[in-house]
Amino acid sequence: MRNFIFQNATTVYFGQGCVKEYLSSLIKPYTTVLLAYGGGSIKRNGVYEEITGILQAAGKNFVEFPGIMANPTYKKVQEGAKLAREKEVDLILAVGGGAVMDCSKAVSLAARYDGDIWEDFWARPGVIEGEPLPLGVIVTVAGTGSECNGGAVITNEEKKVKTGRDYPKLNPRFALMDPTYTYSVPVKQMVSGGFDILSHIMETYFSEPNEDNVSDDIMEALMKSVIRNLRAAIQNPRDYTARSNLMWDSTMGENRVIKMGKQCDFQCHNMEHQLGAYTDCNHGCGLAVLHPVYYRHIYRYGLPKFVRFAENVWGIPRKGKTDEELALAGVEALADFIKEIGLPATLQELGVTDPAGLREIADSCGISAGSYKKMTHEEILSIFQECFAGKEPSI
Ligand code: NZQ
Ligand code: ZN
Repeated sequence: MRNFIFQNATTVYFGQGCVKEYLSSLIKPYTTVLLAYGGGSIKRNGVYEEITGILQAAGKNFVEFPGIMANPTYKKVQEGAKLAREKEVDLILAVGGGAVMDCSKAVSLAARYDGDIWEDFWARPGVIEGEPLPLGVIVTVAGTGSECNGGAVITNEEKKVKTGRDYPKLNPRFALMDPTYTYSVPVKQMVSGGFDILSHIMETYFSEPNEDNVSDDIMEALMKSVIRNLRAAIQNPRDYTARSNLMWDSTMGENRVIKMGKQCDFQCHNMEHQLGAYTDCNHGCGLAVLHPVYYRHIYRYGLPKFVRFAENVWGIPRKGKTDEELALAGVEALADFIKEIGLPATLQELGVTDPAGLREIADSCGISAGSYKKMTHEEILSIFQECFAGKEPSI
């Protein structure tokens, strides 16, 4: 196993009723709360009422910061930071999914930083001075795992860059996770978030080391849990067991535990983030289109792990298959699952209309150092082209 340091500063309160039980004591030390949320789902499902009721009963001033979009922009971050400064906010409370949590993390940093935060943080990763504003999150959709990490994925629309990284100072102080809050998530978003969870785990699993390590064992269990519980939640969106498992699978995928000792790939995420920067596509849907095509390109370079994936995650029997046939059968099982749960399989289904524009997007993608096969921009372009129409790979 490679050497590592493990740290996670977020305290999680998990389970039905946790917001009612813990929120008022968690906000006690603060005076003015920035209540950050998205396009309004929390107003339709009763979550807004519950939370504002608790804030009012606790005598807190709160300032609303609504309208955080699916791919939060740097402009939105600047708007939130300005508001936080003007109103002398001392706690940000993010209520929503990855977009709201990420934007709130970025606001917490930007509100306390006088320099050019894009240039000094997102464009040139490094340590920056100053403590971010305290942040607490209330999760309403499972997927990104943003509640237990320091990642803040932000889109700079002018520069056409969508990027983020795990900066431990941005870990929320607390995360409240009530699985019943996710009951109202539309099925399309639930499966997209579910696939994002699977993607985080696969991006970590398919990387060195391949020898026996506890992270790979945990990941096989997690992948099986996501597949099983996503199927159950599609059957019954109010299945508490399935929703609880998906919610915790999501946290486990991105709370750093499974990354210990692993190199991590995240090439698909690099590609999807740039697709998002150019087309504003849905994150989980973009990943669903990319993963099978990418894996058909690289499976030979990580053959033992792809064989393990086929046998241990999908339960495919060897029955006279060569390693290569077995590995490919695992990738095809993944592609079938994507189809089964109703996610898109082509970039056209994602709304990309102009294949000529794919070169510029491909050239803008970051290259992962941890993948089984280091990509070139030409290979990324051919993956995008195969994804465009869903054609079978030629290699
Ligand atoms: O905006 P509202 O109206 O709230 O609706 C949201 C949004 O349309 C809706 N929703 C959320 N909870 C709901 C609900 N609808 C009904 N009932 C509820 N309880 O779901 C939609 C999706 O929410 P959003 O936050 O946009 O999605 P997600 O959680 O998938 O987050 C995506 C963002 O996170 C980034 C992605 O790139 C993308 O920008 N990521 C963040 C990561 C991190 N910080 O660790 C890692 C990921 O790989 C990812 O890059
Ligand atoms: Zn993701």
